[in-house]
Amino acid sequence: MNFIFFGPQGSGKGTQAERIAGRYGLCHISSGDLLRHVEGNLKDEVREVMQRGDLVSDDLMVRVLKERLDRGDCKDGIILDGFPRNVAQAKLLKGIINIDKAIEIAISDDEAVRRISGRRICKSCDSIFNVNGSSMPKVEGVCDKCGGELIKRKDDNEEALRERLKIYHVETERVLNWYKFMRINGEQSIEKVESDIIDSLGKLS
Ligand code: AP5
Repeated sequence: MNFIFFGPQGSGKGTQAERIAGRYGLCHISSGDLLRHVEGNLKDEVREVMQRGDLVSDDLMVRVLKERLDRGDCKDGIILDGFPRNVAQAKLLKGIINIDKAIEIAISDDEAVRRISGRRICKSCDSIFNVNGSSMPKVEGVCDKCGGELIKRKDDNEEALRERLKIYHVETERVLNWYKFMRINGEQSIEKVESDIIDSLGKLS
């Protein structure tokens, strides 16, 4: 089964995709993580676009996604986190894989700003934490899972975040109806959001 997790910035797509993928043996494919690991001559260009909060080009995004899928290690299914983000990407995705179900994790823009200000990610394994209480690391600045260094993402500033939220509301919300999807209230504990997602995936047919 292949799923998409939609949601505005800070809604917990990455947090939940990691948990649900781990539970069911699926691949968690985060478009943002793929882009953050781009190397070679495109690296600087990609970083600059991301830091502004803009989208990278559809062509580049699809190429990076296809390269990830071509590794062939996702036979039991995938959770796409952060893709597609607009109609053009949804059209391109149709020619790549079949999507069974989608989830939208909904939060307000104010909550997004609050969460993003406290987010830290592991430089080594991409695990997600928050210093504002929801998922504090046990030792400040150190990843609980691999011991890597925790950093603040360069695009986790209010200006870039407002741009990312605008793109989500204008472009990404338009593609939700392309899929069988259910909306989950993301302003609950991480555990409650996870159990609501599991219930919803079971109900969608
Ligand atoms: P990407 O990395 O995908 O970022 P995003 O979409 O902006 O989403 P976020 O990672 O900010 O939020 P999230 O919903 O995953 O929240 P998280 O789980 O971390 O994309 C970055 C950039 O890459 C884009 O701006 C663009 O430039 C480029 N890009 C990516 N995809 C692209 C595409 N398809 N096309 C073109 N360009 C693309 O949680 C947030 C925080 O809240 C964490 O600290 C977490 O611990 C905490 N938290 C989570 N759940 C809860 C809860 N229930 N209660 C309290 N706190 C919680």
